[in-house]
Amino acid sequence: MRRAIYPGSFDPVTNGHLDIIERGCKLFDEIIIAILVNPDKRPLFTIEERREMLLEVIQTISTGNCRLLVEDFQGLLVHYAVQREADAIVRGIRAVSDYEYELQMALMNRRLEPRIETVFMMPAEVYSYVSSRLVKEVFQLGATIQGLVPPSVEARMSEKLKRG
Ligand SMILES: Nc1ncnc2c1ncn2[C@@H]1O[C@H](COP(=O)(O)OP(=O)(O)OP(=O)(O)O)[C@@H](O)[C@H]1O
Ligand SMILES: [Mg+2]
Repeated sequence: MRRAIYPGSFDPVTNGHLDIIERGCKLFDEIIIAILVNPDKRPLFTIEERREMLLEVIQTISTGNCRLLVEDFQGLLVHYAVQREADAIVRGIRAVSDYEYELQMALMNRRLEPRIETVFMMPAEVYSYVSSRLVKEVFQLGATIQGLVPPSVEARMSEKLKRG
């Protein structure tokens, strides 16, 4: 049984995240999608809203025999990963700009917990520029985000920002 943790803010979940989850499902028997509770950030959606959106949209992707769970965590990722008896941490790499930060985190996490491997996955090119931050930014300025997030997330965004 191979279990991975896919950590992130998921504020909100995008099609880029879902692409990485689908690919991760080819490698792991179970993936825990772990929402990071970060008291220093001002998120658009609450943890509960983010969890609801994730639970909704993971129904729509092909996961094969892989089991998906949605949880949240605080503090050190590797502590949480050990506590959940995970083998690996899954991260997505979009562009070279992601690489530097991700490498630094992966090496620090390896130092803190050598038993846990970090696995990097590349999304489909069409999602290589999609981030939660950019999706929120363009949506707030009136652009369409169709195709970048699942329809249910787009609806939540309209509701939240009183648009649509
Ligand atoms: N479009 C994407 N393609 C590949 N990986 C992605 C994509 N979007 C996010 N990821 C990866 O998912 C993980 C969680 O990312 P995170 O929750 O920070 O999403 P984000 O879209 O980068 O959000 P934000 O803009 O708030 O930073 C990270 O490893 C990140 O690189
Ligand atoms: Mg990010």
